[in-house]
Amino acid sequence: MHLTKKEEKMLDGEEGYAVKKSMEILVALGNIYDAERLIKVGSVQVAGVSYHNLGEAGLEFLNELAKDGRVKVLTTLNPAGMDLKDWKKLGIDEEFARKQNLVIDAFKKMGIIISCTCTPYLIGNLPRYGEHVAWSESSAVTFANSVIGAKTNREGGPSALAAAFVGKTPHYGLHLDENRAPDIRFHVAVKLRKISDWGALGYCIGKKAENKIPYITGIEDVDLDELKSFCASVVTYGSKPLFYMKEMTPGSEKYQLPKETITIENEDIEEAYQSINDDFSAVDLVCIGCPHCSIKEIAEIAKLLKNKRISPNTEFWVACSRSVKQIADKRSYTITIERAGGKFACDTCMAVAPLKGRFRSVATTSAKGCYYSRHNNMMTKMGGLKECIDAAVKGKWS
Ligand code: F3S
Repeated sequence: MHLTKKEEKMLDGEEGYAVKKSMEILVALGNIYDAERLIKVGSVQVAGVSYHNLGEAGLEFLNELAKDGRVKVLTTLNPAGMDLKDWKKLGIDEEFARKQNLVIDAFKKMGIIISCTCTPYLIGNLPRYGEHVAWSESSAVTFANSVIGAKTNREGGPSALAAAFVGKTPHYGLHLDENRAPDIRFHVAVKLRKISDWGALGYCIGKKAENKIPYITGIEDVDLDELKSFCASVVTYGSKPLFYMKEMTPGSEKYQLPKETITIENEDIEEAYQSINDDFSAVDLVCIGCPHCSIKEIAEIAKLLKNKRISPNTEFWVACSRSVKQIADKRSYTITIERAGGKFACDTCMAVAPLKGRFRSVATTSAKGCYYSRHNNMMTKMGGLKECIDAAVKGKWS
């Protein structure tokens, strides 16, 4: 990979340890993927924030970089392992909280915005169409590429941090137009009625796409929350972090329909639900907000919970960014949800909080949430918002 004189000096250590290490990572990546050069990025989104996933080795790595590493571009963070303010309310233990705060301190020192959300595009990290960025959380990467039309590979935590310290990333993969053409058409011959149907659709397309880029037809209407749900699911279950949806996402007009076509029928959606839903009744946890809730979703939750009471046998979590929660506070959605017995889980999520062993079962609107909950040894139910709230109130799935 060709380096400019300035980049060579960075690699030699002229700008300190963190930049040198970052250049080593970027050059290694660039060489593996045959990148010709580094390109500037407009923003970075860093995953790998939860102490639950990082452990001691990860914390040590971050502290080393934080000694002299300062980010050069707008950089935001993925969810952490706990609500940074109200962690006690979520049952997080003191030692975990202490370690998680050390991780956050390291990121703060680097100049990263402590946004702790997988929906950075809802709180100000919103790239422009065609802009190169280096993001790492898979649903956010898919949203950036597909819904915004920005260009990013799915970065790992270290390569995203490296891009933040250098302000650049190697020019390969989805940064190149020739790698962004759709390979396979999915025609959706199904009416999608509730938010979880978008997760089920993502499951079907993700599994069948087998790492190809889908071009989706047959969708006549879609809103932002449905798109973010679909983004999370389709990439979790197997497709590349980029898709086109005819007349719904930017760039879809540039491409011919791929020849290979798969039609998604009702049976496919039903099969997705069958495969995601386990056989159980008592629900220990209901979690909404994978990806993190928008203010519109929180408004719907508040409306559905008005004058209701969450079952004493069930916890009800609303996962969102702190910035979105602040809007919810002002509009009194927070008070309605908390009066009903619900809890906000800001800065964190059902996949990265240390939940293993605490809950046996979870109900959620999210196909991705179910996927990761199974990794936490939980049985899962996926359904629409009304079904999930009903389960929280009754303490069981019906
Ligand atoms: Fe976001 Fe966590 Fe889901 S990072 S997409 S809420 S698994």
